[in-house]
Amino acid sequence: MKALVALILLVQLPIHKAVPAATPAPLGCDDPESEAAAEVAVNYINDHSRHGYKFALNRIKNIRVLPQKLNNDVIFLELDLLETTCHILSPTPLANCTVRSFTEHAVEGDCDVKLQKLDGKFSVLASKCHSHADSSEDVHQFCPNCPLLTSLNNTEVLTTVTDALSDHNSKTADVYLRLLEIGRARIQHLPAHTVSVEFAVAATNCSAEEAKDNAKACQLLPDDQSNFGFCTATKVTQPSQDLRVDCQLYGHQVPTPDVPLLSRVFQSTGQDTSAGLVPSVVQGFTNHNLRFSHNNPVASESSSSEFPTSVLSGKSVAKRAVAEVAQHDKVPRPVGFVPPLPPCPGKIRHFKI
Ligand SMILES: *[C@@H]1O[C@H](CO)[C@@H](O)[C@H](O)[C@H]1NC(C)=O
Ligand SMILES: *[C@@H]1O[C@H](CO)[C@@H](O)[C@H](O)[C@H]1NC(C)=O
Ligand SMILES: *[C@@H]1O[C@H](CO)[C@@H](O)[C@H](O)[C@H]1NC(C)=O
Repeated sequence: MKALVALILLVQLPIHKAVPAATPAPLGCDDPESEAAAEVAVNYINDHSRHGYKFALNRIKNIRVLPQKLNNDVIFLELDLLETTCHILSPTPLANCTVRSFTEHAVEGDCDVKLQKLDGKFSVLASKCHSHADSSEDVHQFCPNCPLLTSLNNTEVLTTVTDALSDHNSKTADVYLRLLEIGRARIQHLPAHTVSVEFAVAATNCSAEEAKDNAKACQLLPDDQSNFGFCTATKVTQPSQDLRVDCQLYGHQVPTPDVPLLSRVFQSTGQDTSAGLVPSVVQGFTNHNLRFSHNNPVASESSSSEFPTSVLSGKSVAKRAVAEVAQHDKVPRPVGFVPPLPPCPGKIRHFKI
């Protein structure tokens, strides 16, 4: 009996030592639990972005779970995102936002997110992202005539935005609008020279009529009355002149306590964009970079020195899983056998950049 107990202890001890917490099978990138974590992460990223557009999930690239205590895990996620057509100030829920198509010159976001899962509930501890436009070679390979994204401070782009906003303000009987930021711009040379722009605006305390006397005195409305909107405009200069502008106001939204809407746009620039200036962060760039709102190195597993041993064991678990899959592949198998999908990266939801 004693020997048996000793034997059980001997067998159990090393296992318990090596694996301190519960040991679930490594999560696959397309497991429902991974998707739930990614959804929380993407919402966090959009809620804390200050410029440009909302991003949608394209693929879960990697996931690592580091058990801390019972029902308390730290999760590192690597995500591929794609830009949608919804500006970050838009009240449209992400699920209703359209992912920008490949032919519109897509913008991809890469994010590392560190989350905690405590008693089944996810919360984001840190996020680190950057975003970049698809390469021009990539766009032109499948769409030789698609216009590419243009620098947001391009002179023609700035002129088009100024003209479009003046045109709107001169024709509306409603409130006088001011520019918040230019979101994206493209210039097409053939068959006509066409500048297409998108920009975010905000209502001021003046009507368009009142602004005619002294537009400079018109102030953006305070947070508790704020009303943002979005304009698209197309200006053709050759062979003939044409300007089309469409502006929609979103209506007043109740600001969330942690991220007041107006400060989202202005905080990181420290510049008065109400005068129609382009925020300095986009000088020379074709898209707003997620890096300016999400830049916490702790979000990356590789740069986190907090859990060196757990990270190592986490890595080796994954490596083993990959090795097992590889082994599996070498075994001769009957026709019709479908090999198990590798746990990561996960499926592409929209398209590959
Ligand atoms: C979002 O889409 C759902 C389903 O298509 C629809 O019922 C809902 O009204 C939409 N919401 C907004 C704000 O567009
Ligand atoms: C808008 O607000 C500014 C600053 O408070 C004020 O000087 C101006 O008269 C206001 N304009 C109108 C039309 O109320
Ligand atoms: C846009 O910004 C870049 C970087 O600051 C600058 O080099 C370039 O001259 C600017 N272009 C225009 C048209 O202002």
